[in-house]
Amino acid sequence: MKKLILALSFFAIPFLLFAQQKSTEVKLYKNKNASIQDRINDLLKRMTIEEKAGQLNQLNGGNFTGPAANDAGQKAKMQMVREGKVGSFLNVTGAIETKAAQKVAVEESRLGIPLLFAFDVIHGYKTIFPIPLAEACSWDIPQIEKNSSIAAKEAAAAGLHWTFAPMCDISNDPRWGRVMEGAGEDTYYGAVVAAARVKGLQGNLNDDAHILSTVKHFAVYGAVEAGREYNNVDVSRFSLWNKYLPPYKAAIDAGAATVMNSFNVFEGVPASGNKYLVKDVLLNKWKFKGFVVSDWSSFSEMINHGYAANGKDAAYKAISAGSMMDMESKVMIENLPQLVKEGKISIQEVDNAVQRILYYKFKLGLFDEPYKFSDEQREAATELSKENRAEARKAADASIVLLKNDHHALPISSSIKKIALIGYYAKSKEDLFDFWIANGSANDAITIYDGLKNKYGNAIEYSQGYNADATTNDELINAAVQSASSSDIVLVNIGISGKMAGEDRALAYPEIPESQIQLLKALQKTGKPIVALVSSGRPLILTKIQLLVSSIVQCWILGTETGNAVADVLSGDYNPSAKTVMSFPYAIGQIPVYYNHFNTNRPLPTDNDGNWYSRYRDIPNAPLFPFGFGLSYTNYEYSNLQINKTAIRSSDELIVKVTVANSGKFDGEEIVQLYIRDVTASLIRPVKELKSFQKIKLKAAEVKEVIFKLTSKDLSFYDSNGILHLEPGAFKVFVGGNSEHVLEKDFIVQ
Ligand code: GLC
Repeated sequence: MKKLILALSFFAIPFLLFAQQKSTEVKLYKNKNASIQDRINDLLKRMTIEEKAGQLNQLNGGNFTGPAANDAGQKAKMQMVREGKVGSFLNVTGAIETKAAQKVAVEESRLGIPLLFAFDVIHGYKTIFPIPLAEACSWDIPQIEKNSSIAAKEAAAAGLHWTFAPMCDISNDPRWGRVMEGAGEDTYYGAVVAAARVKGLQGNLNDDAHILSTVKHFAVYGAVEAGREYNNVDVSRFSLWNKYLPPYKAAIDAGAATVMNSFNVFEGVPASGNKYLVKDVLLNKWKFKGFVVSDWSSFSEMINHGYAANGKDAAYKAISAGSMMDMESKVMIENLPQLVKEGKISIQEVDNAVQRILYYKFKLGLFDEPYKFSDEQREAATELSKENRAEARKAADASIVLLKNDHHALPISSSIKKIALIGYYAKSKEDLFDFWIANGSANDAITIYDGLKNKYGNAIEYSQGYNADATTNDELINAAVQSASSSDIVLVNIGISGKMAGEDRALAYPEIPESQIQLLKALQKTGKPIVALVSSGRPLILTKIQLLVSSIVQCWILGTETGNAVADVLSGDYNPSAKTVMSFPYAIGQIPVYYNHFNTNRPLPTDNDGNWYSRYRDIPNAPLFPFGFGLSYTNYEYSNLQINKTAIRSSDELIVKVTVANSGKFDGEEIVQLYIRDVTASLIRPVKELKSFQKIKLKAAEVKEVIFKLTSKDLSFYDSNGILHLEPGAFKVFVGGNSEHVLEKDFIVQ
């Protein structure tokens, strides 16, 4: 027996040594000194197909601690995490909640792959900034980037790694509630803003103050028919390449880590399963190296579209098209292992998707410090800081568009005796915010009433004017009229609630409610100067009210510092500089109306005379307020437009100079805009295309020469295959303070 034990132990030694070495071996993927690619390759070898499918599975999270810890649904999600079947959660926020969930993934699953935590930080996390559409009206690119970097810093301090922003969808339809999330109707400007937002959110992704961005919604979501949410989209490849794709591409070129499929179809195929969009354009032509995430359940919703027969078919069509992570529909985790086992999807296709996700988990340092973003002290110190509020106020100041200011009713002197402030919204914190309030709180907000009280104190006399539901009555109107009658100026906060801005908030009537017009008509009879403060997440039809008021101040939805910013502008402490990035339609029937339209075969002559022209018989063709329009308390005069050549070759630069003078009494900032027109080409070109802009400071009476340089790329356009062309022929260059009132010069490309 002794000999047997001796013999067995002799043979057991190598196994014990191997086991001992195995257990002490630092698995390569856990070795922080190894390259990210080596760590990914090592990890992929160790993963089962179920674990790989898990990385492609993103679930809606919620809370997991406290009372939620005993919730059956939450416990089931945690069990899936233990089994390696979840790669990411959305809507898990805060250091405590994210740490709790991360610990389960890292310490209780077989391979300890950390989770990615994502959230819709669309315009601020705790300190809420102006909605993106308003922010874009500042044309202040450094400020726009800074706003995103502050949002990222607050989100990263709350355990988040990833936001589903920027939304890069071009839209010219204010019936669509999501115009609030973009940068307006212009392609070039949308691209510039998209890149700035990505840079602000991501930085270099080498610290714990930046997070992954998402280019969304890929693609053409902004072209929903009739502005109706989730509606059909049908645009040509000519429009796809020239109008819609450039902002997505600019965001990707700026380094965006992820791209989100849109809900809509393109050419009859849902974007989530659209090989042309995802594989051909995004992955193969643009060489996108990040990963693709679906929109909420957009994989399984291909069944509703009538494109997928069932969940398994949806999973197959999604990953075959190049899509990757499945937000909340679960078709990927439920079907991918079987699809691989059946040979319908190759393990290479799966690995290509999984390794992209793992790359960013390594890049963020989550394998080495999985809890580094979940720091309660840092969270408390970062959120809603004084500095962040100050930046939000600065951003809001620069987002407010002065659309009308007859008789210089504004600015309001600090020595004014009485200001009648009217309107339910002026005191309502709840109506200040849109759908994407993230973890902001209405309680933190400065209302318009608060802001004006801060600025003018007891000179402010408030009356409600109308109800929360925008209805009114004689009692409310009479009280408002009485207050107005004894005031020096009347401020009326009108518009629609911020709650009516964002997803699933399409409006067939994007206009000022009839009751508010009734209120304005009554106030007009007092003969006092009336200033309309318009709160909305979209351009509303202001045609009726503009005849009733002296001034119109488009306040959009401005976030936490709303009231202070409105007071800054009304008092002249900030001279309004913003210019609208979406046209304000003259009437609903005019929608979509946009500046970069085509000439048609029968353009309406400027004198609007004669018949058989492209026109309406009941309204003008022009919008009420055009793209790029916004007033100041001072005046800017443009003169002396010059170009260095009247004929250029494709390799030349065209140097454009213009003189801008501040001829008024206020210092201010002017947004000088440069547009071109390719008069004749193999594909028709718009009557104007924005190609550059400069926001310049001008003191009262100061004169500056502004210089632009145009290259061949600025003069080129895409064909339907996405090939860029510069064609010889006649061109025009325009420079001005908006898209309508411009100086122009002709030149040719030889
Ligand atoms: C929504 C939106 C998308 C958002 C996502 C997660 O349906 O379309 O923009 O990021 O779901 O909330």
